Amino acid sequence: ASHTSTAHPDIEARTPPYEKLVNKLTTVRKVLGQDRGLTLSEKILYAHLDNVEEALGGRGGDVRGKADLKLKVDRVAMQDASAQMALLQFMTCGLTKTAVPASIHCDHMIVGEKGADVDLPKSIEGNKEVFDFLESAAKRYGIQFWAPGSGIIHQVVLENYSAPGLMMLGTDSHTPNAGGLGAIAIGVGGADAVDALVDAPWELKAPKVLGVNLVGKLSGWASPKDVILTLAGKLTVRGGTGYIIEYFGEGVQSLSCTGMATICNMGAEVGATTSLFPFTESMASYLKATQRGPIAEKARAVQNDYLKADSHAEYDKVITIDLSTLEPHLNGPFTPDLSTPISLFKETVEANNWPTKLHSGLIGSCTNSSYQDMQRCESLVKQASAAGLKPKSEFLITPGSEQIRATLEKEKTLETFEKAGGVVLANACGPCIGQWKRSDIEKGDHNAILTSYNRNFRSRNDANPNTLNFLTSPELVTAMAYAGTTTFNPLTDSIPTPDGKEFKFSPPAGAELPETGFATGNPDFYPTFSEPDPSAPVIISPTSTRLAPLDPFPPYGEGELDLTVLIKIKGKCTTDTISAAGSWLKYKGHLENLSHNTLFTALNAETDEVNVAYDTDGTKMAIPELAHKWKKEGKPWMVVGEYNYGEGSAREHAALQPRYLGARVILCKSFARIHETNLKKQGMIPLTFAEEADYDRIGAGDHVRTEGLYDMLKNGGKGEVVLNVTKQNGETIKLPMKHNISGDQAKFILAGSALNLLSAAAKG
Ligand code: F3S
Repeated sequence: ASHTSTAHPDIEARTPPYEKLVNKLTTVRKVLGQDRGLTLSEKILYAHLDNVEEALGGRGGDVRGKADLKLKVDRVAMQDASAQMALLQFMTCGLTKTAVPASIHCDHMIVGEKGADVDLPKSIEGNKEVFDFLESAAKRYGIQFWAPGSGIIHQVVLENYSAPGLMMLGTDSHTPNAGGLGAIAIGVGGADAVDALVDAPWELKAPKVLGVNLVGKLSGWASPKDVILTLAGKLTVRGGTGYIIEYFGEGVQSLSCTGMATICNMGAEVGATTSLFPFTESMASYLKATQRGPIAEKARAVQNDYLKADSHAEYDKVITIDLSTLEPHLNGPFTPDLSTPISLFKETVEANNWPTKLHSGLIGSCTNSSYQDMQRCESLVKQASAAGLKPKSEFLITPGSEQIRATLEKEKTLETFEKAGGVVLANACGPCIGQWKRSDIEKGDHNAILTSYNRNFRSRNDANPNTLNFLTSPELVTAMAYAGTTTFNPLTDSIPTPDGKEFKFSPPAGAELPETGFATGNPDFYPTFSEPDPSAPVIISPTSTRLAPLDPFPPYGEGELDLTVLIKIKGKCTTDTISAAGSWLKYKGHLENLSHNTLFTALNAETDEVNVAYDTDGTKMAIPELAHKWKKEGKPWMVVGEYNYGEGSAREHAALQPRYLGARVILCKSFARIHETNLKKQGMIPLTFAEEADYDRIGAGDHVRTEGLYDMLKNGGKGEVVLNVTKQNGETIKLPMKHNISGDQAKFILAGSALNLLSAAAKG
């Protein structure tokens, strides 16, 4: 096979700084003690440490799950939905360029309906102001801009930016896909991405390492997807929390690079920090085929030192999976860890009364749209077409990138799909993120779909809570779409053909990489600039309802705070409660418009009403309405809550919105860790009750004067804080507080936000 070996023009910028990383690793080994074996994840993570001594020193090697790592990452990737607030925040710093290379990928806002030709122009029109903003900001700050239609972030990153031993952050939960090329790639919120963009270290509790030992070799219908579907069944959706999943063992050598990416992609479904593979020859071939041959050579040179685990490394847990006996699996509905092997699927469908009719089969997406995946599906379609069959279910194909689409077009794979009745959607998330306009069912209809995607939460794909999405390999989706039922097992069952025979599929087959190299396709989809252009304006229409520039938050000022309690919340208060998603997502880049959803599903502890607050004169209002009123009056406020305040996704808007509206303190019984950090980053002060029972003694409308807060902040987080509460009847009480504010965080708070502090430092 003659894979093209020309190197990409900016190959240097895409090559991890191996020499520097290997040198850092030598220091790391000294600090840890020479004979301690390191896992691959530890090597890559610790080689990116900004605080080797502080994080690793004096622990006797007891690091995982304990040390606070401050990491300097090599690269950042952002998708269009989350890039908006990240860039708006970055802009407040006044820097001329990003501290590390970065890319923006327009993939989340493109609807899948009639096919790429119709859908793409329509979606571009509908989101023009957002795309224009992202492109103009990219141009100004030297960020690579991947236009709508160019592909899905994780596929494009794999094809262009991921590399063995690289460390990157991505503003999307499936960023770990890049682990298929041996990178540590972590999904984060926009505010974390901004840390890296302004050269601030990114903080992470040292993860534990879960080793997955792969033995044997895949064959027949079993695919890489089945590795992770099986693992998800074993681990459940929480089983990977706090862990990096690191694959090893002889089985690793038989997997394609893109297959490993599929496995890493869906590691997000078990809550893992990320997943990754050691350097393999299939990675080298993939790098060569994607114009990055020189990276493969450099990686090979540091393979033993840096790109695989030490032979005496120890994992915190080990799970073994035998590829030789692995069975295809289907996971779902509604949760990715409900795993059923194909041999038991029919009886499971019947036992649970799940629909037997299969409405749609969807293949591709960021998880499963590699050349190999599509070749294997094509082999099945060709068999069935030769027997005179057409899919009985709707059959939709989402190529992961323009490169994949163009290659499949060149090789007539798309033609095979389309002749069989398949519809090729735009190179974008589409149905995977709910951008799917279905006409085959009525809203609310019970129906089953099969997808080769990674997530199947209720309503995710089509906003219909009664759609059962089973996650499986693209091969199984394709074969089962021909039967049109969920009870068909392509390994054993046959389908009657029009001429009265019985057709049975042979197992799928397909090459890993295209013989004649990848095609590039439409040149308009590729980034044209990467040098910053400070004279380029960032385009935000002053009349936009979806985007608004951010003003830096004001600094803390001096002395103690005088606050009024806006609301006391009862029970759960998640980031969804604080900043709802759904239709509000269109305002992600417009803090004022978005802030009208602030806390609007919170339960008022004193009246048991949802979204009701009372002004100090007793006027009843919606919670965000009162917050806006107090903002206008210049009246700073605080919230009182219960346990695990701010749990849920790491949504930075849940910290930005209250801050924007004038909240200074959030007081509760306990915080979700990430939200607590986010609050401090935005200059807010999270406090917890020293005595939990004091929750009952403070209420909405109470006036609060802090005591000791300013000194504590000036002393780098050291010192007692007390709240002096004046009840509305004039009674006064003192409530002792606990806090968890580090020296750095105290500085953020005094500066008004972490970004204020960083931008001051960056500007010197
Ligand atoms: Fe997310 Fe898009 Fe993949 S929605 S799961 S990145 S296809």
